[in-house]
Amino acid sequence: MPQKNIWWKEGIIYQIYPRSFKDSNGDGIGDLKGIISKLDYLAQLGIDIVWLNPVYGSPNDDNGYDISDYYSIMKEFGSMEDFDELLKGLHDRNIRLLMDLVVNHTSDEHYWFREARTSRNNPYYNYYHWWPAEKGKPPFRHSHFDISGNAWTYNKATDSYYLHYFSEKMPDLNWENEKTRQEIYEMMRFWFKKGIDGFRLDAICYISKDTTWPDVREEIKVKYDNDWANYYAHGPHLHDYLREMHEQTLDGFDVTTLGEASGIDINEALLFVKEDRKQLHMLYHFEGMMLGYEKSGYKRPDPRGINLVKLKKVYTAWDQVFEQDGWGTIYLGNHDQPRMVSRWGNDTEQFRDTSAKMLITFLLTMRATPIFFQGDEIGMTNIRFKKIEDYRDIETINMYKYLQSQNEDLERFLKDQQISARDNGRTPLQWNATPNAGFTEGKPWLKINDDHTYLNVEAQEKDDRSVLQFFRQLVLLRKHKPLLVYGRYELFDAYHPQVYCYTRSLENEKLLIVLNFFAKEVAYQLPYEVDTEPLVNNLLTFQMDGSIVTLAPYQALIFGPLPADVAPLREQETIFYKQYTDTKEKESGEPIL
Ligand code: GLC
Ligand code: CA
Repeated sequence: MPQKNIWWKEGIIYQIYPRSFKDSNGDGIGDLKGIISKLDYLAQLGIDIVWLNPVYGSPNDDNGYDISDYYSIMKEFGSMEDFDELLKGLHDRNIRLLMDLVVNHTSDEHYWFREARTSRNNPYYNYYHWWPAEKGKPPFRHSHFDISGNAWTYNKATDSYYLHYFSEKMPDLNWENEKTRQEIYEMMRFWFKKGIDGFRLDAICYISKDTTWPDVREEIKVKYDNDWANYYAHGPHLHDYLREMHEQTLDGFDVTTLGEASGIDINEALLFVKEDRKQLHMLYHFEGMMLGYEKSGYKRPDPRGINLVKLKKVYTAWDQVFEQDGWGTIYLGNHDQPRMVSRWGNDTEQFRDTSAKMLITFLLTMRATPIFFQGDEIGMTNIRFKKIEDYRDIETINMYKYLQSQNEDLERFLKDQQISARDNGRTPLQWNATPNAGFTEGKPWLKINDDHTYLNVEAQEKDDRSVLQFFRQLVLLRKHKPLLVYGRYELFDAYHPQVYCYTRSLENEKLLIVLNFFAKEVAYQLPYEVDTEPLVNNLLTFQMDGSIVTLAPYQALIFGPLPADVAPLREQETIFYKQYTDTKEKESGEPIL
């Protein structure tokens, strides 16, 4: 059993994207003072931990993920005094703070890089990765922000190429250099001493590189299925560095680390978070996020939609891996993803609120630390920009340019981006129905979704049945039921194509959770006899006949508590398995709903 009574296992994480949370001075950009003005709102959500996207000095090539000064606050966001006030304000309300730390790369405007690029003899030269031009062309490495992109860029003064897994304004730090690592650890200790409660570690699995720089194109094809993230996440000294980082920074502080684990497979999860390995406390995986996207190219949605059988398989497997050790996290959206209700639920007027509540129920009843992205608590939706000019995200813009250069289908790209683009999740938080949604007095840096006239915090505060109130109630339920944090998870009817049904049990209690993930009504036989009304229902209606419940579209029900040793009414349903395999044969592919 994983260790209990640990705040980062019991807490609920709420992610703040500062640029889009609340603007205090009318420049159209959210800022720290804006967050400070909403501290009571955060407290009233009942969340325990804020993950704040990067707020350090940055020229904003990638919205703060390109850091030019780890020791200061981005001017647009405010000052170090504002930061201290924010931290205190959070702590006064018993909310902890995780800073977002980017140490795979810096901005090219960071002092280290400005020095490094002047001469091969500069002491900072070895803080980065270089390929000397006299050796010919560097071995191909792929840059994530430009699919054709070469991750090496030529620098004249040193007559060498520098490496950047992301944009050319984000050179990768050389972790193989002990000095670089020491500077990073020192900086981390600076923030811990300030009193922050931990770090979300950006692209952390990419930090170690094979500096013999082999030509890996063939290996990427064969071993990594053409997935560069996977290759990047398997550098030779990754685990040595994580252990060293833990040793040199965490000791003596009650803090946590949450790693972004792009490119990591479930079989490797424990290598990172097994307690006695002393590396990371938690990570978040991408396996769930990639469901329903085609494998190669940009995040191109599979027109067949999402396969619930696969989704259950992924989340069940990720639960099991932490059954004995380590700890998981769960999320359905963040600043790198579209809106959760648009992607996994249904954002039409008819089903938006219900499906948002169903997804909230899912996240708050699984055995993992739940991470919500700002706006999820009111069910914010994708903005679905029609024109490239509306986008601000470097990922979308660079991909568009690249596809344009290749004469590819740009219309299709724009249509796909309406589903998958990161800017869908980044539009300003909708506080009220006024023209700028109460976000700013000025011109917002990114357009505000038109639906703010009816979908906003103020309206939902007044409505007892809003998504916001439902969110608060379920947060309270999780807090009062350790079972929802630590209890055993058991899946029922893995192959049921429409219903996700599971139990959580601890000591002598059990809860039964039944979720309809689709817009179709479905009759479903419960695996246990329940003689009471559900404890939680995201709708007003409830229809049950014997043990058969008729679930309305996107209905979410929680039954119980039942005694933990209650006998199931029936075996796991195998008929769905048969249907599943039949369809599979027929379509020679996985069945998709
Ligand atoms: C991570 C961040 C993303 C950023 C990238 C480069 O994936 O979440 O927003 O663009 O790293 O730092
Ligand atoms: Ca501002």
